[in-house]
Amino acid sequence: MTVIITIDGIAASGKSSVASRVASKLKVPYISSGYLYRAVTYLVYVTQTDPADQDAIVAVLQTHPLTLIPRPEENEVWQGEENYTPFLHTTEVDLTVSEIAQHPKVRTWVTEQLKDLPPPFVAEGRDMGTAVFPHARHKFYLIASPRVRAQRRAKERPEDLESIQAALEMRDREDRVQSRPAEDAHVVETSDMTLEQVVEHILKGVYL
Ligand code: ADP
Ligand code: CDP
Repeated sequence: MTVIITIDGIAASGKSSVASRVASKLKVPYISSGYLYRAVTYLVYVTQTDPADQDAIVAVLQTHPLTLIPRPEENEVWQGEENYTPFLHTTEVDLTVSEIAQHPKVRTWVTEQLKDLPPPFVAEGRDMGTAVFPHARHKFYLIASPRVRAQRRAKERPEDLESIQAALEMRDREDRVQSRPAEDAHVVETSDMTLEQVVEHILKGVYL
């Protein structure tokens, strides 16, 4: 089996939750590229690297290598002996991650970590179906209204709904370039769908 399924989409559209459930139904691993971008951002913060300096960021990635572990329930990222996973989904990381993800050298580094992984798997992020796995057999792109996405994320963050929505919309703008559907992706508008309905919808179109 050499099948790759990509699930891209905008912030808080349900990529990770959907990808992990689809992968578990198909009994294949799922891979979250967002975890790697978030881990690079956290590493930049702990090493006090300049977030605007992509050469410095790539240099720090050489001295502090990050490893993505595709656990079925939730991916993990480790830096040496330290598990970075609990520090990746914070408001602070949310605020800086798009700036760091815009650096071409950082994108090349993340792509290098992922592109030779052995299929089958489900990969989720922004550019899985375009830049990283353009040859994937099945491609999906999840969207939902800003309000619905903010309501979903509000269950996971301490801030109020309005500031969560404003932060999501700002990240939508900053991620615009690297976050667009592949021409052959199925766009799924999930605002009025439950998680289970999205998973079922995707599984209907997928064969390994
Ligand atoms: P992303 O990976 O795109 O940021 P997540 O998978 O983290 O999105 O989803 C954000 C939150 O929204 C999670 O709490 C998840 O359970 C919830 N969620 C995702 N999709 C749906 C849906 N279709 N209906 C209701 N809640 C959803
Ligand atoms: O879903 P959400 O945007 O909250 O988080 P994520 O998927 O973990 O991605 C975090 C950030 O990483 C995004 O806002 C993008 O800036 C970046 N990212 C990217 O540029 N390309 C990817 N393939 C995945 C994430």
